[in-house]
Amino acid sequence: MLENYCIEGGVPLRGEYRVRGAKNSALPVLAATVCRGGVYEIYDCPRIGDVFSMEEILISLGAKTRWEEDCIIVDSRGVSKSQVPESLMSEMRSSVFLMGSLLARCGEASIYRPGGCNIGKRPIDIHIDGLTQLGFEIEREEEKIWCKGLCRGGKITLAYPSVGATENLMMAALAGDGDTIIENCATEPEICDLQGFLRSAGFQVFGAGSDTVFIKGAGKKRDRNSIESMYFLLEDRIEAATYMMAVLATGGRAVFRNIRPEIMKEVLRCFERMGATIRNFENTIEIYTAAGLKSPGIIVTQPYPGFPTDCQPQMMSLCCFAKGLTTIREEIFESRFSHKNHLIKMGADIESCGKNAIIKGVKSLKGCRTQAQDLRGGAALVIAGLAAEGQTTVENIYHIQRGYEDLEKGLRSLGGFIETTKEERKKEKVQGQSAD
Ligand code: UD1
Repeated sequence: MLENYCIEGGVPLRGEYRVRGAKNSALPVLAATVCRGGVYEIYDCPRIGDVFSMEEILISLGAKTRWEEDCIIVDSRGVSKSQVPESLMSEMRSSVFLMGSLLARCGEASIYRPGGCNIGKRPIDIHIDGLTQLGFEIEREEEKIWCKGLCRGGKITLAYPSVGATENLMMAALAGDGDTIIENCATEPEICDLQGFLRSAGFQVFGAGSDTVFIKGAGKKRDRNSIESMYFLLEDRIEAATYMMAVLATGGRAVFRNIRPEIMKEVLRCFERMGATIRNFENTIEIYTAAGLKSPGIIVTQPYPGFPTDCQPQMMSLCCFAKGLTTIREEIFESRFSHKNHLIKMGADIESCGKNAIIKGVKSLKGCRTQAQDLRGGAALVIAGLAAEGQTTVENIYHIQRGYEDLEKGLRSLGGFIETTKEERKKEKVQGQSAD
């Protein structure tokens, strides 16, 4: 049985929503529990598909896990294996983080190459190149990759500020006896969060959030005693942005708690260009539009602090309701417009060519049957459905459930008419890993 969302559109969303812990922090942090044996309490951890997949991988390596409400407790003292099984590896691209954390713990790691996915090729050459620069030996046999040897550390430079490669290498560098400096790092807030977690586990890592990260090798000097640590995850700026766009698209007004405006500045600037009123106090943001939405002009996805690619599909939906022409240029992933044809089916006016899409705002969209092809593209269709006239069905919501905890419940708490329905259908074979 597959689940769909059934949405009755046209109701302005109103109320208050508390933003949850970030998916993109939870995944590297969970992988990082392997770096040092210990008992880790990770609070505000979202209960989403990708986190459950990561939990399965940790268990397969010998860790024990349990949940207490929104806290996942990982006991990594028993981790005894350094191989991630192929079946689990293929479920999620973030399994690649185990390479760094297993190297830190066991001095060796074997994983299977994560394949392409619905939003593009997703190579891991920057991860591999960084590990080689650190001194590790890499062997490959078809899809399998072994990594072992001594980490000599030193100064390495990434060819591109990849988020995942920065995080993976921060963990792998802990295996060194010497210190490592990684230059041209990604600067996403989730990287600061990983640094915070690693510090709470007793490691010395500095500089996250800037383009240079310093890692003190913990190799021989490592305290082999297990550790007990409590860590609160960063809030999910992408979840927050998604809900805000649903509020704006429906002409509603809502207050979001547990979200700091400084980690989503570029998205908020864009909302302001569209005519939204934003008020913030401490960790709370209130958002609404007094008049209708207007086009924000040109939006280009970029590494942080630029406009996040993970908000691009939802923004495309929102711009369908904004007066004037909007250009969206997707600079991070090669094919991230899977939602476009479904929006067109609903009556949107969108032309795309390569990495550019031009959206002409329309008076309204009409609900119809649509299909999520990936996580954020699926969220974009939900936003369109909430703001459209009539009924919208979004199929294949397992893509959405990978990254949003109880999206239906959250939107209903704001007054949205959305429910999950079940249907007898086969799950399509997802090529390679999940999207982001
Ligand atoms: C992370 C986020 C994802 C987000 C993306 C970009 C997590 C779990 N996922 O993914 O939600 O969309 O950042 O903000 O944090 N690349 C290479 N070679 C590599 C690595 C990356 O060419 O070895 C390319 C990718 O194909 C992509 C670009 O670099 O075009 C950015 O990828 P990267 O920053 O690595 O994204 P992820 O870490 O996979």
